[in-house]
Amino acid sequence: MERTSGGPRGLLQLVGFLSGAWIVGAQGPPANHTRGESALFHLNVSPISDVRVVEWTFVTRNLAITELMPGARGLSPGWTHERYSQRVHVVDGVSLKLLDVTPEDGGTYEAQVKFRSGAFRKQLFALAVYEPVPLPEIHLRPGSRTSGRCNFTLECRLPGAGAAVSVSWRKGDPPGELTAAERRGLSPDRRTLNLALSSVHPDDVFTCLARSPAQERNASVQLGDHCAPRESSTKGSASSANAFSLKWILSAALVQALCLWMDYD
Ligand SMILES: *[C@@H]1O[C@H](CO)[C@@H](O)[C@H](O)[C@H]1NC(C)=O
Ligand SMILES: *[C@@H]1O[C@H](CO)[C@@H](O)[C@H](O)[C@H]1NC(C)=O
Ligand SMILES: *[C@@H]1O[C@H](CO)[C@@H](O)[C@H](O)[C@H]1NC(C)=O
Repeated sequence: MERTSGGPRGLLQLVGFLSGAWIVGAQGPPANHTRGESALFHLNVSPISDVRVVEWTFVTRNLAITELMPGARGLSPGWTHERYSQRVHVVDGVSLKLLDVTPEDGGTYEAQVKFRSGAFRKQLFALAVYEPVPLPEIHLRPGSRTSGRCNFTLECRLPGAGAAVSVSWRKGDPPGELTAAERRGLSPDRRTLNLALSSVHPDDVFTCLARSPAQERNASVQLGDHCAPRESSTKGSASSANAFSLKWILSAALVQALCLWMDYD
């Protein structure tokens, strides 16, 4: 005979079986969502025709959400709590979709499937909902400029970010890990990064990654000639030469446009 699964889960299933209840999908890690998204609770049940009713409960608040009955095309709500009337949809004939979720929706959900035979089965779902992650803004603060070294600070600002948002930095394109020396310049909250240009290159791109368990956003900055010494710098003259040629191109284009316009007259 085949060995049945051991451990608490197997025991739970055995107890469930003896008492006529089948508990599947014991609570795993929560599905992580951002406010405003839809959460899909995938119900594992077939065939639908044997189902008498599926009762959905928000266990955390002890709130009955909806009762789904089998119909021509799978399950459909027979009764729904008014709080959820605009927010629940049945997807693919069996699964429940909760629309426009908010952090208050976070918690445990239960689907109790009652079969015509009298047997029933429970499925649990965990949901966590986070506020949206704001778009990070990188501020470059120049520091000291002594003996060939250029120290400066990159600060990753996240206006309005909640406590669930964590910050990390990447360097390069494609973005990779910081070097050990660069990591030493991290503030304890990881939002600011102190760097010295003797160890990083002006072409280096730094990326601030802000993430909640449900969402990730990023911003990048290229150091550029920020740290080029002002006096007798080749970089500085190169960029003013660029500025000069841009001005020249613009005025040439303007003259040409003017000529075209006069030709038309
Ligand atoms: C949701 O986020 C938590 C906390 O970061 C994590 O432990 C869990 O695995 C995530 N859930 C999923 C389904 O990835
Ligand atoms: C520049 O940074 C380096 C390392 O981050 C530090 O050792 C040095 O004292 C700093 N120099 C100044 C002038 O702040
Ligand atoms: C940064 O965000 C963009 C746009 O959302 C994305 O395409 C890119 O992969 C992200 N970069 C990283 C390092 O996550």
